Amino acid sequence: MLRDGALKGKNILITGGGTGLGRSMGEYFLELGATLIITSRKLDVLEETAKEMMSQKGGKVIPLACDVREIVQVEEMWAKAIEACGQVDVVLNNAAGNFISPTERLSTNAFNTVLDIVLKGTSQVTLTAGKYWIAQKQPGVFLNIVTTYAWTGSGYVVPSAAAKAGVLAMTRSLAVEWAKYGIRSNAIAPGPFPTEGAWSRLLPGDLVKKFDPAKKVPIGRVGEHQELANLAAYLVSDFSSYVNGEVITIDGGEWLKGAGEFNNLDQIPEGMWDMMEASRGKKH
Ligand code: HXC
Ligand code: NAP
Repeated sequence: MLRDGALKGKNILITGGGTGLGRSMGEYFLELGATLIITSRKLDVLEETAKEMMSQKGGKVIPLACDVREIVQVEEMWAKAIEACGQVDVVLNNAAGNFISPTERLSTNAFNTVLDIVLKGTSQVTLTAGKYWIAQKQPGVFLNIVTTYAWTGSGYVVPSAAAKAGVLAMTRSLAVEWAKYGIRSNAIAPGPFPTEGAWSRLLPGDLVKKFDPAKKVPIGRVGEHQELANLAAYLVSDFSSYVNGEVITIDGGEWLKGAGEFNNLDQIPEGMWDMMEASRGKKH
């Protein structure tokens, strides 16, 4: 979508950058000329991804292991990223943990695990990067991946919903507070984009047949990774320099369809509308 070289000179750190959507966004950033630092818990996955990305797209991808729940690991990872690149210009907070469960079945540890990855993890990476940028008098960009249930809430993924709502509030709050330092903060709320990580945990086993996510989307299909990557590339680029504190939904209209009281009337066949019209005496 953006022109060649649009992200040239930018060093972009992506949490959860070795798999799924983090990887897809990273691949496009790389194609547009950025240097990447990809981080998550599994170094072997990151190293393999980095190798494949560089052989397919060229450029430089630095894999660094870090559990975002552990502040010591976050600070070490940040120091290594600075050492390797000189500076980091963009942080894409994409790492997450999630699974479906009736809330009353969750152990305290299960609830906290998701809160810790999503909310605490994102806040620890954000604080580490923000403090550094402010001390260095260096501008920066945060892009945080949330979901549409950050504002609607959702049963059966309650820790994730609570944590993503927190990340959204943090995004908007810091957009105001840190703008004076030249730091922008925005979020993307994706609808359903198939990934192994999300599908295996949110639609395990036969659920994917029973609850086809595409059926909930007015556009009639799930998202393509490139569609998300296009939006993310714009939001981390200088072309979006006046966009700050925004959350952009990219879900084919999914959440609004669920929200509108009568939207499920799209199940009424045309013939029935004809009959209702005829019974009102309306002529075509
Ligand atoms: C109930 C579960 C559970 C499940 C784990 N637990 N899975 N409880 N149902 N399906 C409980 C465990 O029993 C344990 O509690 C506690 O959670 C921690 O589990 P661990 O396996 O020890 O944790 P850990 O190894 O840290 O793994 C974290 C994880 C895992 C979140 C559980 O799934 C993970 O690594 N996820 C990362 C990737 C991911 O989730 N990607 C999907 C993002 S999709 P006890 O009490 O037994 O100790 C997404 C989409 C949003 O966010 C919107 C879609 C439209
Ligand atoms: P994914 O491939 O499972 O991505 C999650 C990533 O987070 C993994 O790379 C994982 O790597 C990393 N991670 C998990 N726990 C971590 C920890 N403690 N520390 C560091 N990294 C950790 O799933 P995805 O679908 O691409 O999700 C990416 C983002 O999109 C998430 O924020 C998710 O909430 C959001 N999202 C996805 C969808 C969708 O439909 N796919 C919809 C809305 C929002 P390791 O296991 O190596 O740590």
